[in-house]
Amino acid sequence: WPVHAPYVYHINRLKAERGAIILAHNYQTPEIYHGVADIVGDSLQLAQEAAKSQAEIIVQCGVHFMAETSKILCPEKTVLIPDSHAGCSLAASITGEDVRLLREAHPGVPVVAYVNTTADVKAEVDICCTSSNALEVVESLGAKEVIMLPDQYLAAWVASQTDVKIITWNGACEVHERFTGDELRAYREADPSIRIIAHPECPPDVLAEADFTGSTAKMIGWVQKENPGKVLMVTECSMADNVASEAPDVEFVRPCNLCPHMKRIQLPKILDTLVYMSEEVVLDPMMAAKARRSVERMVNLKS
Ligand code: 13P
Ligand code: SF4
Repeated sequence: WPVHAPYVYHINRLKAERGAIILAHNYQTPEIYHGVADIVGDSLQLAQEAAKSQAEIIVQCGVHFMAETSKILCPEKTVLIPDSHAGCSLAASITGEDVRLLREAHPGVPVVAYVNTTADVKAEVDICCTSSNALEVVESLGAKEVIMLPDQYLAAWVASQTDVKIITWNGACEVHERFTGDELRAYREADPSIRIIAHPECPPDVLAEADFTGSTAKMIGWVQKENPGKVLMVTECSMADNVASEAPDVEFVRPCNLCPHMKRIQLPKILDTLVYMSEEVVLDPMMAAKARRSVERMVNLKS
């Protein structure tokens, strides 16, 4: 913390001067999550907060598709990202053209895009979803068959809970697909009291070992409610770091995997963002308007 303190001080001062808010994803490091963020959350919560925000400037501490989602929902606001190269293997796995070809191959089948996609993809689909509302979104369409892209594992998890036939894409999260069911079984054998909770971007053999599966916000909620003695959070490393300070009685067991894209966002870059007002997310207005329909349809979905 001492090394972070001057950055935290100057970021918070400049943020107030500029009338900016900082939205930070649950995978941001603790000095960002606890030190400078105004709002923290999972992808759905961040999208909802962006839509409601009164601030003129949004600094998105997360990956690029999250900043694009804020810009899609708030076209009149300035949306800044501290490192525009913060990508995502899922967002990189599919293009708008791929979606058009999929629609041709499956005429009349509605298309759901995970928010972990570019604006160009969101512009081609019927509705978006996040890991916290994916099942609800799929079932809201009232269709027998749905295309759900690009995460094959999130799609498989949804398919295991619904009668809707799911057609998917072959995308995967490079962070979550590295976990294996074998490694989790080894942890459980070493200590049967351990609780395992996993993100639905994990492969099916990993989810089969989990006591609970949910979005990053739902995983945090589960830890706060269940107060487990020992928990293995099968997700990005910063999650356990962030929750640990609020759950002092819980022992967080490794392994975890780092997301190199999320880790591009660091305090010095956040400060630069506020000093120089860069890097701004700019979207083609026609494409953004098409993408807004699918994101707003999700945000407005009543649960
Ligand atoms: P959540 O929506 O569960 O936060 O997950 C988004 C994600 O994939 C971050 O990498
Ligand atoms: Fe993308 Fe996976 Fe990183 Fe999330 S954790 S931003 S899904 S690569």
